[in-house]
Amino acid sequence: MSKLIYYVAATMDGYIATKNHELGWLEAFTLSDDATPYDIFYQGIGSAIIGAGTYEWIMENTAGHWPYQNIPCFILSSRNLSIPANINAVVVQCSVEKTAVEKTVVQQIAEDDFATKQIATKQIATKQVATKYIAAKQIAAKAKTAAKGKNVWVIGGGETAAFFADAGELQQLFITTVPVFLGSGIRVLPVNHLVQAVPQTQRFLSNGAVETIMDIKPMT
Ligand SMILES: NC(=O)c1ccc[n+]([C@@H]2O[C@H](COP(=O)([O-])OP(=O)(O)OC[C@H]3O[C@@H](n4cnc5c(N)ncnc54)[C@H](OP(=O)(O)O)[C@@H]3O)[C@@H](O)[C@H]2O)c1
Repeated sequence: MSKLIYYVAATMDGYIATKNHELGWLEAFTLSDDATPYDIFYQGIGSAIIGAGTYEWIMENTAGHWPYQNIPCFILSSRNLSIPANINAVVVQCSVEKTAVEKTVVQQIAEDDFATKQIATKQIATKQVATKYIAAKQIAAKAKTAAKGKNVWVIGGGETAAFFADAGELQQLFITTVPVFLGSGIRVLPVNHLVQAVPQTQRFLSNGAVETIMDIKPMT
């Protein structure tokens, strides 16, 4: 069965880029021959999901060369991003902002009616979480269909992978941990609640990196 796999490189302290979206720490690191070859991983992939932040990073840093041309890609954004016609990708929009009506409802509750305001805010937040989960499930289903029996690569970044993990739609993590620390940066998986992973394999590579494959425990 097709899986959503977050295949990513992270630092020892759990970052995938610096705050300024720099990846020099990763580019400077040469993977050793005992690492799982990228091509082997990529052969099992039939489609990909990518966040707008990562999409923009690629477009700015690869002189417009799109590295995933042979697989359909789904770009998550709340904006109307325009994608060059020669790129095999579509934007999937999933805004979960408060609607104008919801904002007005909360505003209209008298300032001193604290309890009602709190209940309304909580109900709207619950609805937003539900909307988010439904959106994640719909996008995951679309990407799996497009993958035609192969797996879906969740390219990242962290925010995008966490969106699927929070909704119970991420099945596997393939993390190459590089032996560097950044101290701060963009987090590898900033989930909103507990997500449990079950390690499947872990290999210490000759250059000090650690390759870990973990299945995500389904939500109960
Ligand atoms: N080390 C690695 O292997 C690796 C891998 C991948 C990425 N990266 C790096 O990670 C950085 C980007 O990561 P990131 O976590 O900041 O960003 P990201 O996940 O790439 O993109 C975040 C953006 O995606 C859109 N998005 C995500 N979830 C959404 C949702 N549920 N609904 C609507 N839109 C959604 C939003 O864009 P809008 O503002 O358009 O709504 C959001 O601002 C880049 O520097 C990239 O180079 C590193």
